[in-house]
Amino acid sequence: MGRKKNNNKQSSANDGDNNNNVLNHEQEATHSRFEDDSMDEVIEVSNLDESMCEFDESVIGSDKTSADYYFDSYSHFGIGFCFVFVRLCKGYTRMQFLMLQEMLKDVVRTKTYQNVIYKNSFLVKDKIVMDVGAGTGILSLFCAKAGAKHVYAIECSHMADMAEEIVKANGYSDVITVLKGKVEEVKLPVAQVDLIISEWMGYFLLFENMLDTVLYARDKWLVNNGVVLPDKASLFLTAIEDAEYKDDKIEFWNNVYGFNMSCIKKQAMLEPLVDTVDQNQIVTNCQLLKVTMDICKMGSGDASFTAPFKLVAERNDYVHALVAYFDVSFTKCHKLMGFSTGPRSRATHWKQTVLYLEDVLTICEGESIVGSMTVAPNKKNPRDVDIMVKYSLKGQRSQVSRTQYYKMR
Ligand SMILES: C[S@@+](CC[C@H](N)C(=O)[O-])C[C@H]1O[C@@H](n2cnc3c(N)ncnc32)[C@H](O)[C@@H]1O
Repeated sequence: MGRKKNNNKQSSANDGDNNNNVLNHEQEATHSRFEDDSMDEVIEVSNLDESMCEFDESVIGSDKTSADYYFDSYSHFGIGFCFVFVRLCKGYTRMQFLMLQEMLKDVVRTKTYQNVIYKNSFLVKDKIVMDVGAGTGILSLFCAKAGAKHVYAIECSHMADMAEEIVKANGYSDVITVLKGKVEEVKLPVAQVDLIISEWMGYFLLFENMLDTVLYARDKWLVNNGVVLPDKASLFLTAIEDAEYKDDKIEFWNNVYGFNMSCIKKQAMLEPLVDTVDQNQIVTNCQLLKVTMDICKMGSGDASFTAPFKLVAERNDYVHALVAYFDVSFTKCHKLMGFSTGPRSRATHWKQTVLYLEDVLTICEGESIVGSMTVAPNKKNPRDVDIMVKYSLKGQRSQVSRTQYYKMR
């Protein structure tokens, strides 16, 4: 993407061991925290930013090809690997391997899971584990290595065949059973499991999300007082100055070699952009939008909500967009562990979700954008997300009140 580069270089699996996933709300902003590639530096820090403290149709069987999904998803969000990956559930393409690699190379993501499992083996040792959406089986392997009694790795795509080979190649066939199929359809050889582990989070936390699948598995197989990893997720909102990028990507359509193509602009405005936001673009506070979701207790309806927000300007500036991001945490660990996908934290493959505003707001320090965000799965395709934002600013320079709709698809 062409946005200004974030100082927080995205992690790489080859960065070595890190422990950037111990949550520490006292951390300073991460501006310079991850400039150095050395993981020694990372060991002492969380990738969380201070905002954590501010708690105030299925297309399977359609005649589209993976190339269609590739271009669909890329045209909307820059990358849409989950879009391709989850929806196809048949065969795998070079694209899927790249996507898998990107997830595995996201060291904030993968190392957090690894550290949670290895450093809290009491959660895993001698336990029966279910890995919901196992992919290559990486999380199952971590659990097996940490002493799990047995791991059921459930994967609906043909990646399950690869996972089976990987498990065998690493000598864990007696501990890990790969079950190919949808969690909702699979026959489990045991009645209950002690632990459910899953990496289900999508862009904007809920896009292409597998949360319903995790909740289904929890309700069907998890023992009383069983553990779900991760067990908490929170969505945050902030506002940014983004003139350069909005001009380049959105206003561009107003005049293309002298022709009005603004119908495309309307479409572009409707679809949130997944991209890395530079923390210097942040104009307001970052606010917890959705009361932290408790994966052990929540019902599937809880992923639909309306949440109020109040974003207070920290400087005089223009506001072009709202930005959403999420944090996840593993609260059952010895030490609270987790990671943030916020702009002040080390970059992850989830980046941030940018929702452009129709209006350019001129905001003065101390003034507030107040409003609400309504989030719900799309009725036709529950893996897509519909978002409605109501916002108003009654400032010295801008007086605006508007409702905007977005679709993540
Ligand atoms: C984000 S990937 C995570 C893969 C792996 N656990 C990891 O951490 O690298 C999610 C995986 O879940 C699988 N998946 C999605 N929905 C599923 C379902 N209902 N049943 C089984 N697998 C599912 C996808 O095919 C994909 O491989």
